[in-house]
Amino acid sequence: MTRPQHFGWFLARGFGPQGWGYPSLDWDYDWTRPEVYQEAARTLEQAGFDLVIIEDSPSLGSPETIDLRVRHAFGGPKHDPLLLAPYLFQATRHLGVVPTVNPAASLPYTSARQFATLHHLSGHRLGLNVVTDTGSARHFSDAPQLGHDEAYDRAEEWLDGIRSLWHSWDDGALVADRATDVYADGSRLRPVAHRGRHYAFDGPLNALPFTDGEPAIVSPGGSGRGLGFAGANSDVQLALAPLHEKSVRDYRARVHEAAVAKGRRPEDITILFAIQPVITSSSEEADRIVAASARPDDAALQQIARKQSSDLETDLTALDLDRPLDLSIFGAHVSRGSIQRLIGDRGEDAPLRAHLTALARAGRLSDRTGFVGTADEFADLVEELGDWGNDGVLLWGDFHPVTLHRTLDELVPILRRRGLLRREYADGGLQANLRSF
Ligand SMILES: Cc1cc2nc3c(=O)[nH]c(=O)nc-3n(C[C@H](O)[C@H](O)[C@H](O)COP(=O)(O)O)c2cc1C
Repeated sequence: MTRPQHFGWFLARGFGPQGWGYPSLDWDYDWTRPEVYQEAARTLEQAGFDLVIIEDSPSLGSPETIDLRVRHAFGGPKHDPLLLAPYLFQATRHLGVVPTVNPAASLPYTSARQFATLHHLSGHRLGLNVVTDTGSARHFSDAPQLGHDEAYDRAEEWLDGIRSLWHSWDDGALVADRATDVYADGSRLRPVAHRGRHYAFDGPLNALPFTDGEPAIVSPGGSGRGLGFAGANSDVQLALAPLHEKSVRDYRARVHEAAVAKGRRPEDITILFAIQPVITSSSEEADRIVAASARPDDAALQQIARKQSSDLETDLTALDLDRPLDLSIFGAHVSRGSIQRLIGDRGEDAPLRAHLTALARAGRLSDRTGFVGTADEFADLVEELGDWGNDGVLLWGDFHPVTLHRTLDELVPILRRRGLLRREYADGGLQANLRSF
């Protein structure tokens, strides 16, 4: 039976130079101005999407490798997505807007107040993508960088603190009675005195409580600790996992177990699997793209090397493509997992060309070897995910007008005709849309 799915858009590369390096860049927008994002947000709302999540990192990375990250704009510059949110709210009426926030970079009281303000301004449409990357620690204090799990502990303390401030107004504290001329009852405001491992602050919060649910908490971490965080705290979990039945069901079961362990219900969390499809107008076109991807030219390999160099903060662009990749070029800042993702099972003797060619290779949606295919083939995948109990998908891309239209123009009507995509929004903000089916 067809079940409607929730759709989100992940604005990869964040609030930065959209489309830099693409042949189709010259659409003459200015990425630092709101218009290109507002136009995209309106398109996503017309398409029936629940939310847009804006990727972010507050740092340009290690001082030694800044040039690698900025030269082709893969790792920066990035402007603050929280400050873009009001412009997107103003351009739309239903779309949820979810900037990425890192507890390393903001204090609970300031954050609780800013988020409350935006949630009210937007009609309860704010969400927060809470990430725990510690690479930017040096910008915020000289304290030593936290370990992986400790960063999650800090994120939980930060979020608990924010929630205690949001709840510092008891029911009945807001009176707003003209007859008695009483606006609020101070005896119903809780003092809040938080003294924790990472933060110390007092309340109550100088902002009003919410009537239609709190800002939605979104989380992307897939480790055991990350899923524990999601189970305890999240309204939406972003999932990166192979899209076959066992893997999808296992991932969902792990998130649900983590939720139940914290006294929550599985249905309290909407799980969105991240996918970056290439939608074509025919299966012949899809076949051509896949065939060409198996034989990338040197220019295509260079473009992949640039992105990898930025992500891995290690310059691969100057290396000989036909020599084995010497793993000693990676500094201590590059995790084993990231190196492993680059070299796969090809081993250390394989030339760099083999690793980059493997990354270039695309597969067909029709045989489930990849994500290139027609809108109908993509809809088949979404429907199948729904049959396995899934809640929705997160499409991955930038806000360049060409990316959005290539992905959505043919897809949206087909998803709607099949009953997979909403035609109407609930009336009550982001939480109401997430709970509407
Ligand atoms: C869909 C998705 C989106 C993410 N977005 C961001 C982001 O915007 N900023 C960031 O610093 N990390 C982002 N991450 C990385 C995660 O926050 C996290 O650091 C990573 O998944 C490792 O955590 P884990 O060890 O719990 O899996 C994202 C990960 C995924 C899967």
